[in-house]
Order: sequence, then C-alpha cells, then structure tokens
Amino acid sequence: MATDRRPDDMARITTPELADAFIEEQIAALRAQIGNKKVLLALSGGVDSSVVAAMLIKAVGDQLVCVHVNHGLLRKGEPEQVIKVFRDELKANLIYVDATDRFLDKLAGVTDPETKRKIIGGEFIEVFAEEARKLDGIEFLAQGTIWPDILESEAGIKAHHNAGGLPEDMKFELVEPVKILFKDEVRVVGERLGLPANMVYRQPFPGPGLGVRCPGAITRDRLEAVRESDAILREEFAKNGLEGKVWQYFTVVPDFKSTGVKDGKRTFDWPCIIRAINTTDVMEVTVEHLSNELIDHLVERIIKEVPGINRVLFDYTPKPPATVEYE
Ligand code: XMP
Repeated sequence: MATDRRPDDMARITTPELADAFIEEQIAALRAQIGNKKVLLALSGGVDSSVVAAMLIKAVGDQLVCVHVNHGLLRKGEPEQVIKVFRDELKANLIYVDATDRFLDKLAGVTDPETKRKIIGGEFIEVFAEEARKLDGIEFLAQGTIWPDILESEAGIKAHHNAGGLPEDMKFELVEPVKILFKDEVRVVGERLGLPANMVYRQPFPGPGLGVRCPGAITRDRLEAVRESDAILREEFAKNGLEGKVWQYFTVVPDFKSTGVKDGKRTFDWPCIIRAINTTDVMEVTVEHLSNELIDHLVERIIKEVPGINRVLFDYTPKPPATVEYE
C-alpha cells in the first residue's frame, strides 16, 4: 500500500539508486491501487504533474488519460513540449485542449489582479471538468501533490488539492504518487523516469502564467510581447550558464507606452521589464545582478526582435518590499 505520510526516518532521495527504489515501490503501489481502472490527470507540464504522468505511464500505461489545458498564458514552446514528450515519446494517452480564446475572451478588459486569477482558476476547472465528463469509466484522479503542499495545508497556509474545485458530482479517488517527496526529490525521480532536464529542473512558474506578467487588462499583442521577451531571456540565460543557477527570471510588459525612435521614425511603444531573483524560501528574495554585457545584449535583442517594445528596464528591487510577480 502507498504510504500516506513521509516516514520520519525516510532518507532524502538524492541518488539515482534511491530514486529507482522509490519508483519501483510506487509502481507496485499504483498498480495495486488502480487495478485495471482508468486514471485522469491534469498535466500542466510543470515538474510535479509531469513526474506523476511519467510514473503512471510506467505503472498503468494507457489506463492513464492526461488532459493538457492550454490557457493561452503558457510560455513559448510549453504546450509543444508537453505534446512531444508525453504523446510522441512516452506514448501517453493525451488530450490537448487549446482553450486560448476562451480564456482570453473571459479576461478581456479585466484589470483587477485577483479577479484575473479567479477567472483563470475557475475557467481551468471548467475546461478540465468538461473534458472529464466526455470520458467513460474514470475512477481515479491523479495529482502532483508534494510533501510541502501537505505540510502547508495542515498549517493552514494553502489548500493542497489542486483540483479541489471540481463540481460536486465529480467524485474520484485520489492518486498522489509523489506526495511524500520534497521538490528536489521529485526532480531526481523525474530524471530517472527519463524526463528531459529542462522539464525537471525548470524554474517555478505561477498557475495564472503569463497573465500576471501582463499587468492590467490582458491584450493579445501585449501578451505576445511578454511571451517573446521571456523566450529571449530564457535562451540567453541558458547560453550564459545562468539556467538552473538563478531561481526565477522573467519579463513583464506593463500597460503604458513611452516615446522612442526607430529607423528615424518616432515610436510609441511599451517597455519590457526584466526580473531575475534568487531565494530559498520565496519569502525573501534578492536580485541577481547581470553583467553589463549581458544586459546590453538583452536590450539589443528584445528591442530588435519583439514587436511593440522600445525600452528595456531592469528591476533591482528585492522582496520585501516588492513581491516576485507584479500582480
Ligand atoms: P510572489 O509574487 O508572491 O511570488 O512574491 C512568490 C512565488 O510564488 C509564485 N506565484 C504563484 N504561483 N500561483 C502559483 O502557482 C500564483 O497565483 C502565484 N503567484 C505567485 C511566484 O512565481 C514566485 O515563485
């Protein structure tokens, strides 16, 4: 049977051998729990849900149905990577839902950050539930709950059940194969399950995605500017050995314009703000200072390659007083 709580004397999973032993144990437990029934999983492409998917594919193969909801606020290349890794390589039973228009239409004109978050969260559950209703014979719901989620939920800091908002009539038995693991252990296990390093070691990414990096009312053009500038930043961090070293880094495109000049003509475009931070607990963060060369290069590339941007700014503010995200 699967263990519900992390045993006090459990060794930290830091080596491939320990990860393999954990995987073997969990696969046996998953097979015993699930039998020949079907399991549903909301696969975001984040570390936890990806590791759960890879583990379930090993344990029960095509009895697992993954649903990847693209809310239109994912980073460049993310939905494509989920499809490539899970459908093409791991041969998962993957339902891909491009719900971009649905989300962006609902978000149009909405400026309040908390309302934006609620719309994104609520719509996500609705899309997922709609897909679940189309399927027959699902008895289990898999979730990427990890040990800190359980501890925080017990301490009243946050509710840990990601899909806790599913409609009343949709009752599933939960399957949570990484719930006794810390994040670093989930990553080691993910590597041993064959997931790509850039999926397993990726930086934290908020559920509302790029939506909170496009402050105020989201428009498609400004959202694209966030997505493109973020892709350039990630590419340059990887090239310069900063990937995996800096905790979190991203761009924000605020909703105001300033005057510039390009090819001898006046422009009136948005600024792009770069934020790069380090932390251990996310309660307090410090700023990663980039080299002047890298900053110059980022400015040049972002201005040249991202439509709508005519100015690049760097955020030097630690937390407190500033939060990591802008909304
Ligand atoms: P803040 O902005 O609160 O961010 O300093 C701390 C960390 O949490 C992430 N974050 C979120 N993650 N849903 C999430 O899943 C959210 O609504 C959310 N807001 C912030 C943020 O990226 C940072 O790592």
